[in-house]
Amino acid sequence: MILNQHLSNFLSSHGYAVEMASRGEECLEKLKSHPLPDLILMDINLGKNRMDGPATTKKIYEQYDIPVVLHSAYTDKATLDSTRDMVKYGYIQKVPGNEQFILAGIELALKLHGAQKAHKQSEAKYRKLLHRSQDIREEQNVHIAREVHDELGQTLTSLQMGLALIENDLKECRSEEKCASVTQMIGEMHDTIRAAIDQTRSLSSQLRPAVLDTAGLMDALKWLIQDYQRRMRIPITLMNENEQLELSQEKSLAVYRIVQEALTNIVRYADASEVTIEPLVGDSLLEIYIQDNGKGFNSEALELNNSLGILGMKERANQFGGDVIIKSKADIGTKVYMYMQLKEDNEL
Ligand SMILES: Nc1ncnc2c1ncn2[C@@H]1O[C@H](COP(=O)(O)OP(=O)(O)O)[C@@H](O)[C@H]1O
Ligand SMILES: [Mg+2]
Repeated sequence: MILNQHLSNFLSSHGYAVEMASRGEECLEKLKSHPLPDLILMDINLGKNRMDGPATTKKIYEQYDIPVVLHSAYTDKATLDSTRDMVKYGYIQKVPGNEQFILAGIELALKLHGAQKAHKQSEAKYRKLLHRSQDIREEQNVHIAREVHDELGQTLTSLQMGLALIENDLKECRSEEKCASVTQMIGEMHDTIRAAIDQTRSLSSQLRPAVLDTAGLMDALKWLIQDYQRRMRIPITLMNENEQLELSQEKSLAVYRIVQEALTNIVRYADASEVTIEPLVGDSLLEIYIQDNGKGFNSEALELNNSLGILGMKERANQFGGDVIIKSKADIGTKVYMYMQLKEDNEL
């Protein structure tokens, strides 16, 4: 058996700064008042009637991101079993002759922890980037929507007015035959322009749902549903349509985009004859189920990397403490479940 004091001396002689604590409670106290260590070596047995190593480790993991390597002189099954849940960075056996293994174990644990930290950081960075790019897209949408609405809309309207003037002038036309054919042409042009104005409106509101600014989320969803219903020619039932959905602009837009993507997927892939949307407002959660009875797909085997639509939905919900979960069965249909926190972060 190597005594802890010997272990400490050995590690010091290899360039490590070592601080000892003889009990679990003392270790937790020291963490509060000292600079945090790079690694903790934790004895499994910390004495009778005291908090043991695994329990102390659990407390450390709840509060800090410090790798803990458990150690003991014993390797019997009972000792190892007691550590099972807490061994994340290896286990070392403290017997004479094992010193070099102990050093290697510590170095490996430090490396593993460093790699995990780097991984977490890069994941956080990727999320930030994705959210930023979603935000930028929305900002650009606002801009394009305004251009489409104001510029293109204006141009079409002035064309329409020009046509009306010509139509008026034609009333004084002398050759009846000629007049009739020009009038017919004008009529057709009116129709074309009207269609173009409708398309402009629809494009502009797809880019930026103006209803969200003027009406609440529920009305915006109703409008969205009507729009899809017209295109899909299948009934979409909105349940609980009298629920009050009063969310911040950001959350409303996120919910709107999630429902929009779910409906787009249904139009594209589901071949459904019935769609139900069910929002549920709880004390702290907003939940929405979007269900179709279409052909379904293998949602278990979904490669999120290649399914940017679904990834985007999940990220939008993640941003507000929620998620999007999809369950689908062949020939039965698809259920998209989304939830998010109703309260803002600073109100939680
Ligand atoms: N409601 C649905 N019914 C059937 N298949 C669906 C449905 N929603 C999604 N899918 C399947 O999941 C895949 C991933 O969807 P998504 O991430 O939105 O990507 P994309 O729409 O760009 O293909 C789709 O290609 C489709 O095969
Ligand atoms: Mg999609």
